[in-house]
Amino acid sequence: MRSLIFILGLFCSNLYAQESMPVAEMVETQCMSCHSADNYTNAPMMSGQEIEFLEFELFNFRDYVRDHEIMNQAMEDFTDQEVKEIASYISGLSLCDSQALVDKHPDANIKRGQKIFNNSCFECHKKDTSGIAPVIHGQKTTYLEDAVKSFQSTWYKPRPSRLNMRSHTDMLSNQDIKDVAAYLNEQKLCD
Ligand code: HEC
Ligand code: HEC
Repeated sequence: MRSLIFILGLFCSNLYAQESMPVAEMVETQCMSCHSADNYTNAPMMSGQEIEFLEFELFNFRDYVRDHEIMNQAMEDFTDQEVKEIASYISGLSLCDSQALVDKHPDANIKRGQKIFNNSCFECHKKDTSGIAPVIHGQKTTYLEDAVKSFQSTWYKPRPSRLNMRSHTDMLSNQDIKDVAAYLNEQKLCD
């Protein structure tokens, strides 16, 4: 499975680098296969996110600053201009399309998760793009859990962030992370 995903990623960047595809078609066919609501990968929902956030992350993948083998490979051949076009296209999509499927949360306490969110996250993470942070409502549970852990200083190579996410995530236990991720996964972005 891992090698198949790896090849998909390579395929993705090469096609675009040959300029055989407009950016919209490239993203729809080469990126959204993983970044969809119902798939086997752990790729986050990303339609309609703020352009600054998307550019920050896509450049970080391209330049091997945010560590993720598949995404590093998928982005490494793009020029600055191409990265900006890709971010702009994804940002222009509807945020309503970023609704992941609701997972089962057998070990999570949603009420506790809501409390944690309202105490420590709400200020920056809004349900729409008016916040200074990306929208994390309606996101995949496992991605949310991985992402929060990846900011923590105990992670082998903490994920870089513009606003020092580490100081907002270091105090969370694994159970806290499960609870807040489950709460967020169940939130509806659009009616
Ligand atoms: C084979 C599956 C796969 C393909 C193909 C793929 N991605 Fe990803 N992508 C992922 C995974 C998995 C992550 C989560 C990385 C992590 O956990 O840090 C990710 C993360 C991202 C993120 C970060 C989003 C966030 O919320 O932090 C962006 C943006 C992104 N990908 C854009 C793209 C673009 C643009 C393409 C096409 C050029 C693409 N991806 C192709 C699997 C894929
Ligand atoms: C001071 C503002 C701020 C606070 C408070 C905050 N965050 Fe963040 N968070 C951000 C920013 C900004 C990013 C995007 C990375 C960056 O640009 O630094 C982010 C990224 C994330 C991501 C990754 C999203 C993605 O799509 O990759 C998750 C998950 C997350 N935060 C969860 C949380 C949780 C859970 C809390 C509360 C315990 C929290 N954040 C508190 C600002 C904040």
